[in-house]
Amino acid sequence: MRDKLEILERRIAESEQGGGEKRVKAQHAKGKLSARERLDLLLDDGSFVEFDRFVVHRSNDFGLEDEKYYGDGVVTGYGRIDGRLVYVFSQDFTVFGGSLSEAFAEKICKVMDLAMRNGAPVIGLNDSGGARIQEGVVSLGGYADIFLRNTLASGVVPQISAILGPCAGGAVYSPAITDFIYMARGTSYMFVTGPNVVKTVTHEDVTMEQLGGADTHAGTSGVAHFVYESEPATIAAIRQLFQYIPQNNVDDPPRGRGTDPRDRRDEALLDVVPDNANKPYDMHDVIRRVIDDGEFYEVQREYAANILCGFAHLGGVSVGIVANQPAILAGVLDIAASLKAARFIRFCDAFNIPIVTFEDVPGFLPGTAQEHGGIIKHGAKLLYAYCEATVPKLTVITRKAYGGAYDVMSSKHIRGDFNIAWPTAEIAVMGPKGAVEILFRKDIKDSADPQAATDAKVAEYTAKFANPYVAAGRGYVDDIIDPRDTRPRLIDALETLRTKRDRNPPKKHGNLPL
Ligand code: HXC
Repeated sequence: MRDKLEILERRIAESEQGGGEKRVKAQHAKGKLSARERLDLLLDDGSFVEFDRFVVHRSNDFGLEDEKYYGDGVVTGYGRIDGRLVYVFSQDFTVFGGSLSEAFAEKICKVMDLAMRNGAPVIGLNDSGGARIQEGVVSLGGYADIFLRNTLASGVVPQISAILGPCAGGAVYSPAITDFIYMARGTSYMFVTGPNVVKTVTHEDVTMEQLGGADTHAGTSGVAHFVYESEPATIAAIRQLFQYIPQNNVDDPPRGRGTDPRDRRDEALLDVVPDNANKPYDMHDVIRRVIDDGEFYEVQREYAANILCGFAHLGGVSVGIVANQPAILAGVLDIAASLKAARFIRFCDAFNIPIVTFEDVPGFLPGTAQEHGGIIKHGAKLLYAYCEATVPKLTVITRKAYGGAYDVMSSKHIRGDFNIAWPTAEIAVMGPKGAVEILFRKDIKDSADPQAATDAKVAEYTAKFANPYVAAGRGYVDDIIDPRDTRPRLIDALETLRTKRDRNPPKKHGNLPL
């Protein structure tokens, strides 16, 4: 027995060497961790259980017959985050650049199948040059096997991707289907084809960073949801996400551990909204004062900052927050904001996370750029996502709720469960100035003092329409509240919605306006 154990130990040690000392050193020199070091940071100490460490590739072309590594470039298995089961794969760039072979794909598919069967999240740590060139179509088939599983698992178990190296080709399409993408600044890249191919095809000179670095995807493309300064910070943030998300679509999200009193009123909420309706303020100030301990786990912070999305706890209940941000572009809804919020809402709805909306929106952004870019169909995605969501939906109108944006932002008409307004709310078809210009253009032009005539009409319109009382008189908002009571009122409403039952008509699936 002992001699056999020695063989086993030797092979295990070999499997842990990745592509060899030299390549591991090169990986470290680039500021990157090894596949196993990353798993050590991600998972609770000693909880990792590895599968398939003795798997090797089956290719016999281009010299690969003489070069085989145990594990074949991906470390797979399961472990725990705060005691909760997660399935993981961690790609090893030191073995053929983390490229995907048939065997490599099978290992990933195995953990994905187990995650689905056992109702647990999947976390992929990606560091891969894409399809293993030497394996040709077999590698492409392996990717397609993964893409299918990503799609079938979507909305069933949370899928999280970290990009921790230069990820190309198939190595970016699987993360793209998953729920959240994390990137580390300076070491992670995502592109369908790298700068060399770009140069050949389009003659553009572009660096890796410009083409697909963390800041490009966090701020410009919106492909990445989170970006951090280093790999350890990125991995720590993934662990933090687990404070808000459930194991699967029939599980409840975890309760927060904060100690913020449920009945806490906040005096400062009286002064957040400026008296001048055209002055901006930072909606973060409202959110942080309402949620438990001010802890807001913001998603896509650098992208479409005119809308805020993120997780928080309210009275211990995990919630998804969607909020217009008057401090950026006056909180207007544009294409990027609609896409960002729609996807977030659909995640929350799929995973039983109530949605709390803070609303201060002047409308959809006008102009040819938006119209030609398809604001109609993209704005419709946000509308669709809110309409479709059956989780508890709570809305607080802090100031403007104008035009179509009033309907879209979780209004009562689209199954908002608890809609309240602050006394500063303005709920109408459009703002006073715009309305007066359309309705009274001729009268104003013909008047002796056009400015005085405009001011008078604006005052009349404001008194009549730019307030919450018309909507409240119809029951379109459930109540107008003292802003200081926002937290206790929301927590109480959430409690009533704990047993909410609502479902959409049976169908294969809807036809989201893509
Ligand atoms: C096999 C690969 C490989 C690949 C890298 N390597 N990519 N081996 N198949 N796809 C190997 C290299 O030969 C090298 O081996 C080691 O990994 C490290 O690669 P380097 O190029 O030295 O590293 P670096 O300079 O950091 O560049 C990383 C890279 C680059 C940007 C990822 O390697 C690259 O561009 N690779 C090709 C990317 C690509 O086009 N892949 C195919 C996409 S098509 P040694 O022995 O020296 O360590 C695809 C189809 C799926 O994925 C489609 C789905 C829709």
